[in-house]
Amino acid sequence: MAQPTQARSLVTAIPGPRSKELQQERDAALPVGLGMTMPVFVDHAGGGIIVDVDGNHVVDLASGIAVTSVGASDPEVARRVAEQVERFTHTCFLVTEYAGFVEVADALNRLTPGDHAKKTALFSTGAEAVENAVKIARVATGRPAVVVLGHAYHGRSLLTMSMTAKNIPYKEGFGPFAPEVYRAPSPYPYRWPGGPEASGEEALAALKDLVVSQIGAHHVAAIVAEPIQGEGGFIVPPPGYLAGVADFAREHGIVLVADEIQTGLARTGAMFACEHEGVVPDLLTTAKALGGGLPLAAVTGRAEIMDAVPAGGLGGTYAGNPVACAAALGALETIESRDLVSRAREIEARVLPRLTALTGPGSVVGEARGRGAMLAIELVRPGTTEPAPDTARAVAARCHAEGVLVLVCGTYGNVIRLLPPLVIGDELLDDGISVLEAAVAAEQG
Ligand SMILES: Cc1ncc(COP(=O)(O)O)c(C=O)c1O
Repeated sequence: MAQPTQARSLVTAIPGPRSKELQQERDAALPVGLGMTMPVFVDHAGGGIIVDVDGNHVVDLASGIAVTSVGASDPEVARRVAEQVERFTHTCFLVTEYAGFVEVADALNRLTPGDHAKKTALFSTGAEAVENAVKIARVATGRPAVVVLGHAYHGRSLLTMSMTAKNIPYKEGFGPFAPEVYRAPSPYPYRWPGGPEASGEEALAALKDLVVSQIGAHHVAAIVAEPIQGEGGFIVPPPGYLAGVADFAREHGIVLVADEIQTGLARTGAMFACEHEGVVPDLLTTAKALGGGLPLAAVTGRAEIMDAVPAGGLGGTYAGNPVACAAALGALETIESRDLVSRAREIEARVLPRLTALTGPGSVVGEARGRGAMLAIELVRPGTTEPAPDTARAVAARCHAEGVLVLVCGTYGNVIRLLPPLVIGDELLDDGISVLEAAVAAEQG
């Protein structure tokens, strides 16, 4: 099917009649725990437009939560997937191998930061990648403890949920949680009690104190951090913080794991967000954009750490499925050949000034922030920094009604995040941001 190209002017009513019917069926068939963001059912999508079953054309500023960076029907992904499905869909790499798995590993070994010898293991979901990074770090160091940050999000499995900070909806009622997970404060510049300038140094001091005085550095296998925190609120750490963590980890033989599942693969205007800080992690997790829409995840890292786990210790039935590998090779081809790293920077240059213009004394927008095509506004009670989750929900609902898909995130549920496909055209992007501006203006009163 051809990629949709027409603009949001084709929005009639959201939700339309067919989506409403399907919602009723959904309510009968699915548990409420799955939740839902925008009340439309999708017919087809691509290049920054989602066309729903009623023919509404929605501007996609979410990319399926940072997955379809190359668009939801990238021709290179579609071609390679179709070709692969014709040949074989599955063998289980642990049983009989195929070249696509090795080619994806080679690509990640080449693209990730650092010129040391690297190896990559493939999995299916982000949570699995983070779990496996911890498993590898534990075997490599012989230590049990894992240090994570406030506002972190690492997934919904037992270990990654334990590593995730926010209680509702991710953890409530799901305990008891995994042991040996310790949390240091996140240097959240906008909300740091001593002010943004002090946030890096003070948060680093708190992390060092936690590791050295409270856990004992010789018990710590890994420090796991998102280089820009995603679900927690698109929190960009202050300059120098990540480098300080990297130095400290190295000093104490602790494995530094960068969780680049949301930030990785061009999203932030660098191939990996660690590069903005000149940080080379020991292990790096990817998922989301890696598979171009198919489930694929990876742990890439120093060869000697990756090789610490004995044969058979890593894997899974679907880990590195051949169709997902084919999709990844297509997505990586598009990211590189279309220079989507530069495109993410262009998106930042085009959008961030408009978001920043929404801030100011008395505004409901407390801060605009982010990097590349990972941008956000934080909604507050005017004149304060008190989070305003109801305003964020209202702004998002206005955007949805106008045919613009934005997502809400943040520990306090008050951040509107923008994750457009990197292939989105300027006209669509500008249109989507105009709708967001109008929605904010309407809530400003
Ligand atoms: C930083 C980060 N880590 C891990 C995950 C979990 O990935 P998945 O949902 O594929 O398990 C996510 C998902 O949003 C994420 O943003």
